[in-house]
Amino acid sequence: MRVIGLMSGTSYDAIEAAAADLTLDDDTLLLRPLGHLSVAYPDDVRALIAASLPPAATTTQAMCALDSGIGQAFAGAAVRALRELCAGAADLVVSHGQTVHHWVEDGVVRGTLQLGQPAWIAEATGLPVVSDLRSRDVAAGGQGAPLVGMTDTLLLRALPGIPAALNLGGIANVTVLAPGADPLAFDTGPANALLDAAVHHFTDGAATHDEDGRRAAAGRVSTELLRFLLDDPYYRRTAPKTTGKEHFHLPYLKRALDAVPTPAPDDVLATLTRLTAVTVADACRAHQVTELVVSGGGTRNPVLVRMLAEELPGVPLRRSEDLGLPSDAKEALAFATLGFLTVHGLPGTHPATTGASRATLLGSITPGLYPLRLPEPATRAPHRLRIIH
Ligand SMILES: Nc1ncnc2c1ncn2[C@@H]1O[C@H](COP(=O)(O)OP(=O)(O)O)[C@@H](O)[C@H]1O
Ligand SMILES: [Mg+2]
Repeated sequence: MRVIGLMSGTSYDAIEAAAADLTLDDDTLLLRPLGHLSVAYPDDVRALIAASLPPAATTTQAMCALDSGIGQAFAGAAVRALRELCAGAADLVVSHGQTVHHWVEDGVVRGTLQLGQPAWIAEATGLPVVSDLRSRDVAAGGQGAPLVGMTDTLLLRALPGIPAALNLGGIANVTVLAPGADPLAFDTGPANALLDAAVHHFTDGAATHDEDGRRAAAGRVSTELLRFLLDDPYYRRTAPKTTGKEHFHLPYLKRALDAVPTPAPDDVLATLTRLTAVTVADACRAHQVTELVVSGGGTRNPVLVRMLAEELPGVPLRRSEDLGLPSDAKEALAFATLGFLTVHGLPGTHPATTGASRATLLGSITPGLYPLRLPEPATRAPHRLRIIH
């Protein structure tokens, strides 16, 4: 089955579209990547997302405009993926949409909202669309995240020791697979969320991120600020746990800056980069991780990658490319896989990774141009994922 996966993470920097041929072969899921592309949000949609995210107040009119604007932008990305990656022929689109709120109270997820009306995608491509993949897991008592836990787990089975997969998006998440134990997946804390917020703030909106970590490289870590930030109780919570930009945003950072002797901007960036490295490393140590497979935009920041290596001596860092999954496409391919599982009647979560009471069939399905025809339900869930080329 040829599937297009669409994803935009909490950084809302771009929509990632990836396509793959997926086949179930006994207990193995075969995935042949067909390429990926990155599509920028139109300026007005991006600005409206920025203006609507917590702690800002918003309106139902703005939510409606976002649902359509994001849906149309995702539809544009799907049309390009269909034409440029699939030579015009695909069977299914799987759309994550854009998270606008991940509602966590006392460690319990009460709701999670991804916008990007799938009707626009179905109308533009004529293909059925699986969307809203997180809500079902939340309804089953889970965190609704990190949903990459399923694909990560299937992929990590090929590795020895206690391998973990790390994605450095706005938020950092890990999946840990120890032999003979249930897989674990959780958000470790911010990856780029606070860094991006600080850069945006220090440059009055002129820059979105610390390109190649240059400013962090020029700064020095403030011990006081780092200690203050590390005191956040989130880091001490045990998995399953998830967080988002509702928590790690600019006012959060400003409160920290007000509480310590204020460091120079580059020192703040050095400290925030170190914060990500330390919190990821602490999470890996807590679960005796022996090898880390890294993906996401944060892998483009050499200062962050260097700090992470410093914090995890003896733990080899590999890029997800080494396992055949392009770093930028990994999450889009993970969602393509989840939609594939859904239409085959297979659950997309492992209850241990999200904390749900049971593994559920994820998503809502929007028909395409023709009546919906689903494949025969699969009789056996895959145990491993093999990338073929
Ligand atoms: N060259 C770079 N130097 C530093 N940071 C980068 C670079 N490229 C990307 N990033 C960081 O990666 C983020 C985007 O990563 P991504 O994996 O797309 O996150 P998300 O899934 O949250 O959208 C950017 O917001 C930025 O912070
Ligand atoms: Mg992104």
